[in-house]
Amino acid sequence: MERDVDSFEWNKIFGGLLAGLLAVLGVSIASDMMFARHLPEKPGYEVAGVEEAPAEGAPAAEAEKPAAYYLASADVAKGEAVFKKCAACHNVDPGGANGTGPALYGVVGREIASHAGFSYSDALSGMKGQKWDWDHLWGWLKSPKNFMAGNKMSFAGITKPEERAAVIAYLNSKSASPLPLPAAPAEEAAPAEEAPAEEAAATPAP
Ligand code: HEC
Repeated sequence: MERDVDSFEWNKIFGGLLAGLLAVLGVSIASDMMFARHLPEKPGYEVAGVEEAPAEGAPAAEAEKPAAYYLASADVAKGEAVFKKCAACHNVDPGGANGTGPALYGVVGREIASHAGFSYSDALSGMKGQKWDWDHLWGWLKSPKNFMAGNKMSFAGITKPEERAAVIAYLNSKSASPLPLPAAPAEEAAPAEEAPAEEAAATPAP
């Protein structure tokens, strides 16, 4: 007798649990159906830097023009502002002292690695006899490391050609005898492929 009641009670309990489970399942299926289409297509977070557009040296979409193109219209005042990046290591005033880097007054047209009293790296000293002309400065300030491996100027380089040209024009102005800036090359005058070959010939291999 008691057993019958017990099992009757248990049936109710299980029945109730089952109904509850089904209800939960039903709601969850229903809500899946309602919300499934609203899942975001992209994850709700973005990892900074991952989709970063390639900065330098990547796709030739905007190939850099030759140095003279930028130098012809270089802005000396802008170059003075850019030089703030260099001022921690370099003095540009007449008679300025060497610091972490050699004094730069009159550096445009000066012999490479030639400033008295500065202890240059072997790498840069290896270029003695050549001058800091536009192309050499252009390559050096774009990427000191690529220009001359083993040099000891801890500076990544100036990515923007306009800024690079500006600081070179500024250096040129810091001289007893500034040189005339190069004229802009005639557009499309020479086939583009010829420029790098000439440059390579003018610049000694590291
Ligand atoms: C962290 C210090 C540091 C910074 C910043 C720096 N330089 Fe230098 N620079 C050096 C050192 C050191 C050398 C000598 C390199 C060697 O001997 O290999 C040097 C060498 C040079 C030379 C060659 C000079 C010579 O007498 O042959 C030029 C030109 C030059 N730097 C320009 C710049 C310009 C322009 C900037 C800023 C855009 C700059 N540097 C930023 C430390 C620095």
